[in-house]
Amino acid sequence: MDLIYEGKAKKLFTTENPSELLMKFKDDATAFNGEKKSTFAEKGRLNKTLSLHLYQLLEKEGVSTHFVRDDGPDTLIVKRVEIIPIEVVVRNIVAGSLKKRTGLPEGQRLRQPIIEFCYKSDELGDPMVNDEHIRELNLARGDELEKIKRSALKINRSLSAFFAKAGLTLVDFKLEYGRLFPDKHNIVLADEISPDTCRLWDSVTGNKLDKDRFRQDLGDLIEGYSEVLQRVENALAGR
Ligand code: TMP
Ligand code: ASP
Repeated sequence: MDLIYEGKAKKLFTTENPSELLMKFKDDATAFNGEKKSTFAEKGRLNKTLSLHLYQLLEKEGVSTHFVRDDGPDTLIVKRVEIIPIEVVVRNIVAGSLKKRTGLPEGQRLRQPIIEFCYKSDELGDPMVNDEHIRELNLARGDELEKIKRSALKINRSLSAFFAKAGLTLVDFKLEYGRLFPDKHNIVLADEISPDTCRLWDSVTGNKLDKDRFRQDLGDLIEGYSEVLQRVENALAGR
């Protein structure tokens, strides 16, 4: 197996099947474009398991993803894709950079979900871009962007309803999409869905159980992620 990509939180390796890759979830965490760094034993396993559950749930609801099968404690087998260099953020409630940009109070529910795009570029610090920037930079075609928006809103409906059953409020989250090898005609959901990429608050107490614990020094990260996993598994089991 050859390492073909290493990001801040994951590594990708080739497999014997040219159309599949092995995705390994690392224990590393970074924030603020890599300025803040740490390592948390078990984070890789927790994020792998949460991504696995959420990908299986979305596939059942008709969302095409890169997920192929579970592989090991912190690894999944995924379809090989060409990542579209856009972070797709969906927001239901004001938090994070939306609060900073608008002055709206944290915790205020939005009248309807907001989709934002960021250009995936470490060099530029992942700046926010709009449809016209995306067209000018050739990041995605117009029809791909329309598919992505529809898919992101559908995922928001599915995940919001599911997390509500788990006693969690889905505040906002980030998605990435990829073009399936080899022909690159079809786009699928890629990357991960975990408390690294979602804001999840306890529906009753408002307690933050996601990566904001690390970004803002709010408490033990692993305790938050373990609580999310336990509630997700209880909800899947109908408890
Ligand atoms: P933001 O409020 O910082 O823009 O983040 C919005 C959502 O996107 C939040 O759920 C965290 C997630 N996110 C990532 O997954 N990766 C990132 O690099 C950033 C900045 C945010
Ligand atoms: N993952 C991003 C980074 O390190 C930021 C974040 O999630 O807040 O840079």
